[in-house]
Amino acid sequence: MCGIVGYTGPKEAYPIVITGLKRLEYRGYDSTGVALLNDGLKVYKKKGRVAELEEAIIGKDLHSSTGIGHTRWATHGEPSDINAHPHISASGKLAMIHNGIIENYAQLKKELTNKGYKFTSETDTEVLLNFIEDIQENNQCDLLEAVRVALKRVTGAYVILLLNSATPDTIIAARKGSPLVIGVGKGEHFLGSDASPMLEYTKEVVYVNDYELAIVRPNELILKNLGNEKITPFVTKLDMELAEIEKGGYDHFMLKEIFEQPSTIHDCLRGRLDATAGTITMSGIQDNIEHFKNAKRIIIVACGTSWHAALLAEYIIEELCRIPVEVEYASEFRYRNPIINKGDIIVAISQSGETADTLVAIERAKENGAIIFGIVNVVGSSIARISNGGAYTHAGPEIGVASTKAFTGQLTVIAMMALKIAKEKNTISEERYRNLLLELEAVPEKVAAILKSAEDIKAIALKYKDAADALYLGRGYNFPIALEGALKLKEISYIHAEGYPAAEMKHGPIALVDENLPVVFIATKDSYHEKIVSNIQEIKARKGKVIAVVTEGDDIIPGMADDVFYVPAADEIIAPMLSTIPIQLLSYYVGIAKGVDVDKPRNLAKSVTVE
Ligand code: AGP
Ligand code: GLU
Repeated sequence: MCGIVGYTGPKEAYPIVITGLKRLEYRGYDSTGVALLNDGLKVYKKKGRVAELEEAIIGKDLHSSTGIGHTRWATHGEPSDINAHPHISASGKLAMIHNGIIENYAQLKKELTNKGYKFTSETDTEVLLNFIEDIQENNQCDLLEAVRVALKRVTGAYVILLLNSATPDTIIAARKGSPLVIGVGKGEHFLGSDASPMLEYTKEVVYVNDYELAIVRPNELILKNLGNEKITPFVTKLDMELAEIEKGGYDHFMLKEIFEQPSTIHDCLRGRLDATAGTITMSGIQDNIEHFKNAKRIIIVACGTSWHAALLAEYIIEELCRIPVEVEYASEFRYRNPIINKGDIIVAISQSGETADTLVAIERAKENGAIIFGIVNVVGSSIARISNGGAYTHAGPEIGVASTKAFTGQLTVIAMMALKIAKEKNTISEERYRNLLLELEAVPEKVAAILKSAEDIKAIALKYKDAADALYLGRGYNFPIALEGALKLKEISYIHAEGYPAAEMKHGPIALVDENLPVVFIATKDSYHEKIVSNIQEIKARKGKVIAVVTEGDDIIPGMADDVFYVPAADEIIAPMLSTIPIQLLSYYVGIAKGVDVDKPRNLAKSVTVE
């Protein structure tokens, strides 16, 4: 996690760096810091948000044309002024920011301590910085060479940006495992964890790859690998506007992103789904169609909300395509020596495309001959780039830490993907196929209709905002939505919540039920409807409070539940895309009522680039 920004060029660096940090704050907000080069090195840093640092340094000398900035998600050492980045080397000549974890930092720290180095912070970053400086002093080499030699001994993940007071217009950068984008302007360069800090200045960017080092000067960008060979930078054009990352009149990014879903789902379908012609155009699937048709199994790896999308994918793909699907937490998959055969299809689902566990999981699988298919939101992200094929979710930048529109984008891609494979494999009847295309096409409109009743959800949220716990239950296609509902509530309201398959509730969680426990049932009309009605009875018999998401026209559950929210009727495969909307709104309104900063809830970061 952590957001990093850098600038070198004719403009004032500080305003660019501080504005960039605000855009990257979703990546971590434990502390903020900047280092500016002008007649020596100036470092300002502080525990807390970007705005707090900005306020604290009003009136200080901020003049500089080369600067770097950092917003931290602490891994080594508590959030504090001292542990905040940038860190300064023992000589005082170098300043460095870092995103990632240096896994062998303890060993390196021991070696340096034995040589007499003293450390002020508890971070792994300060160790790496002094390790670099030590090499530079011992080898009498330039900084880039010292970084190159140092990184060969480092295990872990990093993006580092370094300033050297001896070379005032230069930023040295290196990457392995964490994201780094370099924006190429006219006589200036920008650096960022993503492209948002440079959007208003340039659309030309270079995505730095793992094990690459960069020397960045106003008029020059040199890329090298760890073997010291030059690499030609590959410039790509950004397809993103500044307006896409601004709040656009909403109180929070999360609310804006929830309300954007009719258009983001539409954007995801656009150009792919043609219900009239009965076609789905997805080149990533088409290019690998023989693999998909002949696949003995598909393994899906993901984390968090994306894992919930993966679980729904298992239900849908198995039903429509008759291909066995395994769903794996990326963090478990990467370490448990899984059996991967040549030709196995591994699908990675990730909003950010940078989640460290997911990224490494697919790297390993790729080495073993698997075909990697990425379902990713961030264009040009690491997962997108290492995948053999894939489909973007086209939800646009998601800034709120809680994933909302990216999740429905993932569900949209999964539905199209399953339908396309099923059609090619002949595992779906023409009638069902055509019907599901029409159902999918209607989703944006139905989501828009649900959003019109947001106030009804708000009223329910206010009623239950003081609950200590909550249970989310669903069956079949709605089970992953129950899990997602519980995660969403935990994340942004800090209420403890659990998601379960509704029937599984009897095997333990039912012991929690009393008159104070809200139980949210995702109970739209599907093949399991009667079964879930019985589960609701079981909760009511124990005086639990039932909040039910039901299909319009349901005349059974509303008579039993304490509160109901209606969603339009849909095929059971498509219904989760609708039932997830009230679940998102419920968490949002509870979070707001409790005074939580829903866009940046405590301890979380948007992009988990450490394992
Ligand atoms: C979602 O609300 C979470 N903040 C989190 O679980 C997230 O989905 C997870 O970290 C995976 O991220 P990714 O989709 O970017 O890989
Ligand atoms: N490991 C560094 C620290 O704790 C960077 C953390 C990160 O990238 O999340 O400060």
